[in-house]
Amino acid sequence: MVEYICSRGSSLRLRELLDTTCRLANTLKKYGIHKGDRVAIYMPVTPLAVAAMLACARIGAIHTVVFAGFSAESLAGRIIDSGCKAVITYNQGVRGGRVVELKKTVDEAVKNCPGVKHVFVAQRTDNKVHMDDRDIPLEEHVFDYQQGDVFGCVADIGWITGHSYVVYGPLCNGGTSVLFESTPLYPDPGRYWETVQRLKINQFYGAPTAIRLLLKYGDKWVKTYDRSSLKTLGSVGEPINHEAWQWFYRVVGDSRCTLVDTWWQTETGGVCIAPRPSEEGAEVIPAMAMRPFFGIVPALMDENGKVIEGNDVSGALCIAQPWPGLARTIYGDDQRFIDAYFKKYPGYYFTGDGAYRSPEGYYQITGRMDDVINISGHRLGTAEIEDAMDEHPAVPETAVVGYPHEIKGEGAFAFIVLKEDTVQTENVKEELKSIVASKIAKYAVPDHVLVVKRLPKTRSGKIMRRVLKKIVTNQSSDLGDITTLDDPIIVAEIVDAYEKYKTEQSASS
Ligand code: WTA
Repeated sequence: MVEYICSRGSSLRLRELLDTTCRLANTLKKYGIHKGDRVAIYMPVTPLAVAAMLACARIGAIHTVVFAGFSAESLAGRIIDSGCKAVITYNQGVRGGRVVELKKTVDEAVKNCPGVKHVFVAQRTDNKVHMDDRDIPLEEHVFDYQQGDVFGCVADIGWITGHSYVVYGPLCNGGTSVLFESTPLYPDPGRYWETVQRLKINQFYGAPTAIRLLLKYGDKWVKTYDRSSLKTLGSVGEPINHEAWQWFYRVVGDSRCTLVDTWWQTETGGVCIAPRPSEEGAEVIPAMAMRPFFGIVPALMDENGKVIEGNDVSGALCIAQPWPGLARTIYGDDQRFIDAYFKKYPGYYFTGDGAYRSPEGYYQITGRMDDVINISGHRLGTAEIEDAMDEHPAVPETAVVGYPHEIKGEGAFAFIVLKEDTVQTENVKEELKSIVASKIAKYAVPDHVLVVKRLPKTRSGKIMRRVLKKIVTNQSSDLGDITTLDDPIIVAEIVDAYEKYKTEQSASS
């Protein structure tokens, strides 16, 4: 068996070298390095440097390996002379007990090399270095997965999150992936955390709906189990409200793990907007997807279809250029694909979601555009009202929908779920109204607050507000397509509760 044996003690078998080479070759190709292009390699003698040379050879690119002790000026000279399109380097090197700032030297060198389109950066040390748009980290993703980690995505493979983050993503990266074949409540609400303890999961990726559900059962189910293996927590599928974010971060992650709110869609194939905590100085703001992923160019659109420039603005979230994971069509119906995603804003992919761009330029997803209501001329996402109400300690979950209102045009109707031990229901309702008034505005206060046992959800855990809207607009006999509904009995429960509420209302008026 052929092996490379490194002076630092590690060794690399031919099979591993081939895997690394192929992965790197694919990454180079993905970022536009083709046959005949020149690539500078500025790395000390390591297995990855060998793989970098072979990766270039594999795709027909020409490598120029520059001794990693050369200055920025010497490196720049070689890059310019050979017309390099890319540089491959490490964040830092270690030589003779000293740290060598390889990436900093490359930054300095490429300042004068406009031909360099990308700098690929591998991790040699744990230190974070400055990265900008041109830089491609070779080993970081959103979840900071490192070799040997156990990645625990608890989504079902029947949904896109399971496709990309249980199957294809981990396999493409040679990672270890957990197959979770159960529910978070069986045999008890400690199921996730028992699994974390038993399998020593390092990254836990789940949905806000499950987090809100578990939060209802209290902290004890989490604290029973050892979660010290966890490094990164991820959330996907819906806007995560602040209370759930804080609970996930503080209780599950012991305020020690990074929590990333990741935004994407079935159509996008993989995460498109998410914090990237592995970069130097990168902050993570609670309940915010924050930063476009590599290759993603978000744009916010106004009602007239114009791009909204600047920060501290909200609009319809579009993506301005294609990227590798984008769906190509709807099988057998190209026209439907064009109509659904490209017609409303020609030249842009329309996500159907609304987003806010903060003063710092970070993105926050505000919910589906069709979940926007217009109360007395004020447009607001139902998620904003829900987020405010979810802060009430007795209320783990809410859903708000609009209904026609004689005076205001539209009014807000809130469905709420209470924690199991809540008794003072009327007080809670009044408190919720005042939270909304103080957090958002008086006009946003729901006219109706109805307590229900459970909310109607899809099997992937998304609240079906469309169904609730039908109920409050008295169209419960025609609920539309409810084949993705998890448990149809819930709808019957809610219709009953609503009818009872209406009867009480008309009796008291
Ligand atoms: C919503 C799931 C807010 C959004 C991967 C999107 C989110 C839809 C987030 C896609 C998030 C997903 N914050 N909303 N972090 N992630 N969504 O196709 O409305 O099942 O358009 O893909 O979920 O759902 P899908």
